[in-house]
Amino acid sequence: MAGKGLFVTLEGGEGAGKSTQARLLAEALRAQGHNVLLTREPGGTPGAEEIRNLLLFGKVDLSWRAEILMHMAARSDHLDNAILPALERGEIVVCDRFHDSTFAYQGYGVGQSAPDVLKFLNGARKLVDFEPDLTLMLELPRTQARERLNARGGQTDRYEGQAEAFHERVLAGFDAIASADPARVKRIDAAQTPEIVGAALLQAVQARLAVQGV
Ligand code: TMP
Repeated sequence: MAGKGLFVTLEGGEGAGKSTQARLLAEALRAQGHNVLLTREPGGTPGAEEIRNLLLFGKVDLSWRAEILMHMAARSDHLDNAILPALERGEIVVCDRFHDSTFAYQGYGVGQSAPDVLKFLNGARKLVDFEPDLTLMLELPRTQARERLNARGGQTDRYEGQAEAFHERVLAGFDAIASADPARVKRIDAAQTPEIVGAALLQAVQARLAVQGV
């Protein structure tokens, strides 16, 4: 049940500048006269933000199945109460992370791309049954991402605190996604200046809008 709007997701590892670029993209699109919902996952609605807190800062470990389903539960609330209504109104939804993050973090990072984990994950994804029109994949090697994260500081969540090997697997997961689905996923070199990255994102959305006629 896709609405009339356009559903754009930003994906990538930590430190690639996704959240800043999502905000800049939303502002640039609004300046062009579009109605934009800027949102994020896990989160984006009161219910999903509660689940985010549990997922990122909860004190107990979750089984891998439970962790995947918690991300899917947050996503379902977010879809029903924010994303789908905005698309129905004809808005552009700019979402910081979505299904691809579950694939990369839970499938590759936590699950180490084990076939039973990927099978479970794909089944849950099919159940949720909603995909982005366009995904902007911000790519940055882990060494550069780590430098940026060290400079930023702040509170470390369940995933940020994982070992380097975990983050390398996450990047491998994102790379696999971009290779498997080039029609949906546009790779962006996030090592470029924020201005160049921002221009590339805007141009990719405009190209997709032209196709969609939004
Ligand atoms: P962020 O808002 O700073 O990107 O933090 C969200 C964290 O949650 C980030 O480490 C990636 C992780 N995450 C998953 O592990 N699975 C998911 O499905 C999503 C949406 C995020």
